Amino acid sequence: MRILLTGGAGYIGSHTLLQLLQQQHELCVIDNFSNAAPEALSRVARLSNRHFEHHDATILDSGRLDEIFDSFQPEAVIHFAGLKAVGESDLKPLSYYEENVFGTIQLLKAMDRAKCRRIVFSSSATVYGTPHYLPYNEAHPLAPINPYGRTKYFIEEILKDWAKTDAEKAVMLLRYFNPVGAHPSGAIGEDPMGVPNNLMPFIAQVAIGRRPVLNVFGNDYDTPDGTGVRDYIHVDDLARGHAAALDYITHHTGVEAVNLGAGKGVSVLEMVKAFEQASGVSIPLHFAPRRPGDLPQFWADATKAKTLFNWEVEKSLVEMCADVWRWQSQNPHGYGDET
Ligand code: WQD
Repeated sequence: MRILLTGGAGYIGSHTLLQLLQQQHELCVIDNFSNAAPEALSRVARLSNRHFEHHDATILDSGRLDEIFDSFQPEAVIHFAGLKAVGESDLKPLSYYEENVFGTIQLLKAMDRAKCRRIVFSSSATVYGTPHYLPYNEAHPLAPINPYGRTKYFIEEILKDWAKTDAEKAVMLLRYFNPVGAHPSGAIGEDPMGVPNNLMPFIAQVAIGRRPVLNVFGNDYDTPDGTGVRDYIHVDDLARGHAAALDYITHHTGVEAVNLGAGKGVSVLEMVKAFEQASGVSIPLHFAPRRPGDLPQFWADATKAKTLFNWEVEKSLVEMCADVWRWQSQNPHGYGDET
């Protein structure tokens, strides 16, 4: 198939790009490189030994979108592009609504003009908000508690209304839990700008010596060891989930929302232990106050992905950590290492 990836140079986008190239699809990437490095695309090209189109563009530029849609003629879109830092979204809500929500509207209008009717959307478990029950299944009420999560919720609702305008339209809403890990080659991985917000890249930077200590945000939660519990999923398992979802919407119309998670919870201390086991490096800890906005624990009910498109995670926690460690060891400063 001819597939357009928005945000295809990003962490999840680049890993999905690689798998789709290896499956012999034709790919085109749009990325404004506001939170991604062009070097990531060069590495995917080398790893896949495949050519693909890529454009330094924002989805807000409808003129550029029309040019790209006219020349590439995509049969489907996987939409990763968007701002994604929860804390930042509290400080800059309008930027998040403009880039994520208005940007998606521009993308959908361009799709309509090009008669492209299939889209996989990068949504997030943050749409569920405070758990009424756990694990979250797809029927759980949607009540996001921060502007970032609300942009994902609003986009899901926009996509449901967009799908109703044409019986041939197909939409897959993929609700990610906590993506971690890197391609086993160590050539691509997560390269956050500035101080990492997320746990795994922070641990990796402590292990490589870029950060002195890991702050554990709260060890007084009502969880087995007092630290926050999350559902971590290897980014390559996540990428494989996108390929399966894409195949599904090739044969089905309408809208489905699907969790992509491992279906089990892992605490901060359990993650640290797994990383130390995988890397052989000990991670110094500082027990700090809880981080505002953090939920104590959540994890996915992942059964719908299994029944709908026969997908489930395959990689273990230690593999997630070993792959991150290989990426970070080979690239101590991420893609910035490239001379
Ligand atoms: C995980 C656990 C922290 C950093 C966020 C977004 C979500 C998605 C993934 C975009 C929590 C603890 C973390 C640190 C710590 N992003 N922690 N010290 O908050 O579950 O999810 O990232 O789609 O939308 O909400 O992930 O990795 O930030 O935190 O103790 O330095 O690690 O308290 O319990 P989170 P996280």
